[in-house]
Amino acid sequence: MCGIVAIVGHTPVAPLIVDALKRLEYRGYDSAGVATIERGELGRRRAEGKLVNLERRLQDEPLAGTIGIGHTRWATHGVPNETNAHPHFSNGVAIVHNGIIENFAELRDELKKDGYEFASQTDTEVVAHLVSREVARGASPTEAAHRALKRLQGAFALAIMFKGDEDLIVGARNGPPLAVGHGEGEMFLGSDAIALAPFTNAITYLEDGDWAVVRRNEVAIYDIDGNKVERKRQQSLGTSYMVDKGNHRHFMEKEIHEQPEVISHTLAHYLDFANGTSKPLDLPFDFARIDRLAISACGTAYLSGLIGKYWFERFARLPVDIDIASEFRYREMPLSKNAAALFISQSGETADTLASLRYCRSQGLLIGAVVNVRESTIARESDVTLPTLAGPEIGVASTKAFTCQLSVLASLALKAAEARGTVSAAEAKAMVRQLAEAPRFASQVLKLDAQIEKVARELSHYKHVLYLGRDTNFPLAMEGALKLKEISYIHAEGYAAGELKHGPIALIDENMPVIVIAPHDRIFEKTVSNMQEVAARGGKIILITDAKGAAHSTVNTLETIVLPDVPEIIAPIVYALPIQMLAYFTAVFMGTDVDQPRNLAKSVTVE
Ligand code: F6R
Repeated sequence: MCGIVAIVGHTPVAPLIVDALKRLEYRGYDSAGVATIERGELGRRRAEGKLVNLERRLQDEPLAGTIGIGHTRWATHGVPNETNAHPHFSNGVAIVHNGIIENFAELRDELKKDGYEFASQTDTEVVAHLVSREVARGASPTEAAHRALKRLQGAFALAIMFKGDEDLIVGARNGPPLAVGHGEGEMFLGSDAIALAPFTNAITYLEDGDWAVVRRNEVAIYDIDGNKVERKRQQSLGTSYMVDKGNHRHFMEKEIHEQPEVISHTLAHYLDFANGTSKPLDLPFDFARIDRLAISACGTAYLSGLIGKYWFERFARLPVDIDIASEFRYREMPLSKNAAALFISQSGETADTLASLRYCRSQGLLIGAVVNVRESTIARESDVTLPTLAGPEIGVASTKAFTCQLSVLASLALKAAEARGTVSAAEAKAMVRQLAEAPRFASQVLKLDAQIEKVARELSHYKHVLYLGRDTNFPLAMEGALKLKEISYIHAEGYAAGELKHGPIALIDENMPVIVIAPHDRIFEKTVSNMQEVAARGGKIILITDAKGAAHSTVNTLETIVLPDVPEIIAPIVYALPIQMLAYFTAVFMGTDVDQPRNLAKSVTVE
């Protein structure tokens, strides 16, 4: 999940590399570093923490050189300090790495026996030593890199630079993404096309097992056996504009506020508002003919899929098997040949989701991918890309991508229902009309910020919070808890309200606020009973409901947040906003790093 940039250029590259790394900081921000070659010598600057620390270091001690590699790190092996920051050096070989070298312990022991000393605790350093050992044994730089690559197990994207050659960077990919950017008399490597967008939009994506010999005027790509391979050069859609926060304090706040607009764009992509139907989609499978849908994703994307399950089953009578991707990929689930698979990912690069996709592919299933980054690996490897039109999401905690994923899933559930004949034309029309209202209601919820901020101030005084909900509000309860814990560091859990009495009720006391998500729907009364159980045990309830729910709730609450009355199908989209806002304001009160919370990264390309 680290970010990699490499440039063989004709002007000093260090500032360009830092600029490109800024676009990759979403991949990790534990440390950063850059190395260049100047007059035949390797130079390096590294700094613990965010990129801004590296920038300061470079201001004090600039690096010249027209060839260089850079890295922003999300720590896997070794604490996030300067010594463990990339690039790593070994006798004139410099290397940056994204991923995990699984056989690093065995390789390290072997290299130690050969007299190699390890300066860091990282798995990456074995690669630097392996390559330099091959050079010491007489191999040319490219051959040394090739031989070293053959020894590596695990997932990696690498850029390797050699002290003696100012016109060579070797890139390699096995798992995490790596793209070659083609310039005029200059070449680039980057973890994604957006990082390279200011330099070029002519991009070649390396495939797994590929390694590339990158020089100023040419690029050659080989497979792991050393055979030259051709890979398509394509125009990247990546835009070079740097997304900014506008008038907002944080990207997360901005992204929460963008939701009415991006939900609207996403729905308009899938729904024909004029005719009250879903729009035609070039699906590789026929919803009318499949007997199951397998959905797999991670984190917030998984929770959107869980809500999707309720919709597909309810509206289209289509059974859904949904899994957390890291479980799905190993649990050897028997898949019906008559099933289709759907993967949901904001980044389109999540390693576990990608592995699940490949498993389904190996089982012969046709694959759809709901992704926000259209050029991502998951998008490229699926049979159909179903985009969320959320725009770049910078805040590590997913907000607008989540509600856009819900918008796609609701639209797809409607499409499935139309295809399977489980809704009449009139019902479909009503659903489209209701979905079209989601952006308007989302805007109204944003106006509740003062009240939600007040509740957040209260929440910031607690160490534990419980979220409860039923039906689609159960995954939403889990999403509320996930959002709160990841950015405020307050421990939170989301439960199905009916499960309370099967264990979690033991936790209830005056120190555990319970946030209940309960619009006044057909099971509202059931949730009220669960709230009574909480109240009877001294629990403090924060109820998120609508006007009818507020009127019919017989329970004393610490606070009731009243949302507009919304149709059931759009409730998960609209109710997502107050839980995001609660997490956001609480984190602001706690003084945490809202956009880049500790230990996390936006794109998780390791398992
Ligand atoms: C939480 C969050 C994560 C991601 C998860 C999957 O706010 O953002 O849980 O949802 O890491 O990432 P993608 O969607 O990129 O596959």
